[in-house]
Amino acid sequence: MPLVSMRQLLDEAAKGGYGVGAFNVNNMEQIQAIMEAARETKSPVIIQASRGARSYSQDKFLYHLMLAAAELYPEIPLVMHLDHGNSVETCKSAIELGFTSVMMDGSLMPDGKTPSTFDYNVQATREVVEMAHVKGITVEGEIGVLGGIEDGHGAGGSGLEHVTDPDQAVEFVAKTGVDALAIAIGTSHGAYKFSRKPDGAVLKMDRLIEIHKRLPKVHLVMHGSSSVPKELQDVINQYGGKLKPTWGVPVEEIQLGIRNGVRKINVDTDNRLAITGAIRKVFAESPEKFDPRDYLKPAREAMKQVVATRMKQFGQAGHAADYQPVSLTAMAKMYAQKAVGA
Ligand code: G3H
Ligand code: 13P
Ligand code: ZN
Repeated sequence: MPLVSMRQLLDEAAKGGYGVGAFNVNNMEQIQAIMEAARETKSPVIIQASRGARSYSQDKFLYHLMLAAAELYPEIPLVMHLDHGNSVETCKSAIELGFTSVMMDGSLMPDGKTPSTFDYNVQATREVVEMAHVKGITVEGEIGVLGGIEDGHGAGGSGLEHVTDPDQAVEFVAKTGVDALAIAIGTSHGAYKFSRKPDGAVLKMDRLIEIHKRLPKVHLVMHGSSSVPKELQDVINQYGGKLKPTWGVPVEEIQLGIRNGVRKINVDTDNRLAITGAIRKVFAESPEKFDPRDYLKPAREAMKQVVATRMKQFGQAGHAADYQPVSLTAMAKMYAQKAVGA
């Protein structure tokens, strides 16, 4: 199956009332882990690459690995998505490379740190929507600012400083025509999201529900959605790691989100934890080993287990064969027939 647009996957997810995990990758083993989990659970899937991932992998390598995934797993609808594009230029280069979906994160300035103005966000996102939709490519925008910093990307803070304003969300969607909308509800990127199991004071699910009521047809996106399970922390710490106690987003809160318009759920940290724990275990238990396959295989398997579990929990499992791919050309025609982008 060719790489497909994210809009098609999310429209189908909305029809079926389920969510789709969007998993970050930097290398072949992570792509293999996701594709094996997708095959095992019969799931459509979104694979995403950040700017950091693109530079780490020389993104052409990543692109060709994605083409290999599409060829080797023809039964799986597969999206290649740019995570947190920091500028119109970054989105443009992703589109030129062959990504079928891009995120224009205009909630921050191009430095990836400074919160932007509403007007800047609208203007940059609208520009990307115009550029992408003529090619049938999906656009995710963000309104409100997440907390935390990953690989230099992020405003820092707890995630509660710039929780999404529902009025702004409505205006942003109307003015930009985005296909999917990332909102800030108190989550942050990375392992250190919450210092206790989150409740409504720090994880604003009520805000998400309010936004969904105002924008019932918009596909909402939850970033910073790793659950940071204690079991994964424990493996790392048991084998010499030094993670401080921390809490992520409980899966039941994500499931509440899915019942209220969340269609895309971004997960990176849980997979990083699984990979690191598996590698540490091999290093600690078999210090004589030096063939990278001896630790990359268990690492890949550990990530596959996490991804397969999330696919079942988000409800995408079993939906890979529900639909035939719509070509990007047909998607472009669909956009052209509508007055405004979406
Ligand atoms: O946006 C956050 C993702 O976890 C990607 O992280 O920028 O370190 O690749 P990264
Ligand atoms: P986590 O750090 O919670 O996995 O979030 C990943 C993310 O939002 C990528 O955009
Ligand atoms: Zn994110």
